[in-house]
Amino acid sequence: MAILEVKNINKSFGRNHVLRGIDFTLEQGEVLSIIGSSGSGKTTLLRCLNSLEFADEGKIIVNGETIFDGSVNKRPSEKELMQKRLHFGLVFQNFNLFPQYSVLDNVTLAPRLLTKDSREQIEREALELLESVGLADKRNNYPCELSGGQQQRVAIARALAMKPNILCFDEPTSALDPELTGEVLKVIRSLADRHMTMIIVTHEMSFAHDVSDEIIFMDGGVIAARGGPAILDNPTSDRLKAFLTSF
Ligand SMILES: Nc1ncnc2c1ncn2[C@@H]1O[C@H](COP(=O)(O)OP(=O)(O)OP(=O)(O)O)[C@@H](O)[C@H]1O
Ligand SMILES: [Mg+2]
Repeated sequence: MAILEVKNINKSFGRNHVLRGIDFTLEQGEVLSIIGSSGSGKTTLLRCLNSLEFADEGKIIVNGETIFDGSVNKRPSEKELMQKRLHFGLVFQNFNLFPQYSVLDNVTLAPRLLTKDSREQIEREALELLESVGLADKRNNYPCELSGGQQQRVAIARALAMKPNILCFDEPTSALDPELTGEVLKVIRSLADRHMTMIIVTHEMSFAHDVSDEIIFMDGGVIAARGGPAILDNPTSDRLKAFLTSF
């Protein structure tokens, strides 16, 4: 069974029809990269998956459970929304750490509020996660005391702390200098090696080529090309070809 099924997602902002019939499925442990030019709808799609935005039409099914159905008009309660969002972890371009909390508190905050696990267990798991992103020694530092690459690795640990089924990244390295990009990509690659199911919106074409099982090229709100990493070597559509040569 697919871990994620996305069916015919349509979304407009006023008269701007941003997503036009998006369909795809994701298997457990698969890495999907989404590429495409600015304004093609990549962030909006991630926001719809994470219930931060609601599509006008379509279905989103996680592990067989329908978490969004555009034909049902009832708006979910805050509690239902929280449950839906727990399926996904989201890592943003600008890290979005809580500046007033230490690194450790950034990672433990959500599990402390939303799980019944003991504080000791939550802290132990958080330290293991910080260890895995190479930042255990920064646990008592504050975000402003870290480099961008370090902040982004904390953001990844924080997203993993809620044990999401699917981890989503929205251009996780585009705010970083090239030398800091590498350390973040290494962490994402190690997650792929450990079969974390991931959706990665990225402009890092060679990284997408290396790490992805499937690549989707979005253009004007539709999936204009899709396939294995080889579509970057031999573009299957003229639009994709034009997009790739613009890099
Ligand atoms: N909250 C919003 N209200 C109105 N319009 C929006 C909103 N969010 C996005 N849009 C519009 O939807 C379109 C798609 O935006 P989106 O952010 O999804 O693109 P993107 O592919 O992520 O682009 P980028 O590569 O620049 O991040 C754009 O035309 C944008 O202006
Ligand atoms: Mg975007």
